[in-house]
Amino acid sequence: MNKEKYKELSVKLSENYNIANIMNIITKINDKFSDKDIFLEITEDSVVIYLYQLDVDAFSKYINSIDNDETEFIVKLIECITSIKSYGIKGKKRVFVDYNKERKVANRKSKENDRNQNFYADSHVFAKENNSVPPEYLNKIICDKSENFLKKLPDNCIDLVITSPPYNFGLAYENHYDANLWDTYFEKLFEIFDECIRVLKYGGRIIVNVQPLFSDYIPTHHIISNHFLQRKMIWKGEIIWEKNNYNCKYTAWGSWKSPSSPYLKYTWEFIEIFCKGDLKKPGNSNNIDISAEEFKQWVVAKWSIAPERKMKEYGHPAMFPEQLVERALKLFSYKNDVILDPFNGAGTSTLVAHKNDRNYIGIDISEEYCKTAEERILKSRNQMSIL
Ligand SMILES: C[S@@+](CC[C@H](N)C(=O)[O-])C[C@H]1O[C@@H](n2cnc3c(N)ncnc32)[C@H](O)[C@@H]1O
Repeated sequence: MNKEKYKELSVKLSENYNIANIMNIITKINDKFSDKDIFLEITEDSVVIYLYQLDVDAFSKYINSIDNDETEFIVKLIECITSIKSYGIKGKKRVFVDYNKERKVANRKSKENDRNQNFYADSHVFAKENNSVPPEYLNKIICDKSENFLKKLPDNCIDLVITSPPYNFGLAYENHYDANLWDTYFEKLFEIFDECIRVLKYGGRIIVNVQPLFSDYIPTHHIISNHFLQRKMIWKGEIIWEKNNYNCKYTAWGSWKSPSSPYLKYTWEFIEIFCKGDLKKPGNSNNIDISAEEFKQWVVAKWSIAPERKMKEYGHPAMFPEQLVERALKLFSYKNDVILDPFNGAGTSTLVAHKNDRNYIGIDISEEYCKTAEERILKSRNQMSIL
């Protein structure tokens, strides 16, 4: 057995432990788990854990189920393993070894400076002073064109924009024609996004959910991202929203079993995240509401979330699932922040902001959708007051 392959940890043996019991636990663990993943040895004064990869939840569940009188040892063993903060994820398993090896770069910080990290945003001229949203617009659903309404907001007053714009797919929206010339579409979209950038606070974030129209060969996610880069926003990252919807037919737009024009299938959408002026967003630590477990899971930038199932009920053809907005808000904003959705539709962003103690402004051109957005918040308020 090449022990160099494993991460080595140890738990000190205490006088209180019954060595026969400890040996029994070690044997059970070694029998239960593959020695390619984990194995334990006992020395004079400690138990050595050789760790490669592990489903920590399954491991904890198993050793807590072993009949024994060594609770303290079991707790220490689990603590020792879970205290490791540097690991990769493979399926449900944490990979503890070699994960960082290939990435370890000496003098990483100074090399970042040598390369001029996020150089494209260097010469931005964003003001650092932030402002407040006029109270008459706070926590309101606004029925208007965003390109009109946003002009009423001062610069630097919004903490986070989260939105999914219409994608020009030809969907049947109540008050918006969704099949414009692509040039016209992007021109209008960028007019609104430029206003979003203006009203965003210094350090604020803009999160845009984008689904390209693959059958028109328009890489909307790249075109939108390029626009933000040109406006000197800093790219924070991209999340793959895996919807697992295998609806599209192999031959609908391409060739079947022929290289002449195979059509690629996508079961996911993109979520692009940009920051204004600074990657860091200051905030009061009392206003952080993400748990450790949520944080660990959600920073892995592939989110498997089923599409919203109640679109018919709410009469809107392209809604966010609440879970997606909740993850984004808890990961990228603080409680009491102001959240803006300039394409608010049936109001999922504003509802989730409200449910998670954020302030909101939601804008949509459709009166019908705005009414639905209002009703959803009202219903949630009533439910909260009953509890
Ligand atoms: C993809 S939907 C957003 C759905 C929303 N995320 C939800 O969960 O319900 C895009 C929305 O943008 C709205 N819209 C289109 N053009 C607009 C504009 N110029 N200003 C404001 N809203 C607009 C449409 O009415 C539509 O509801």
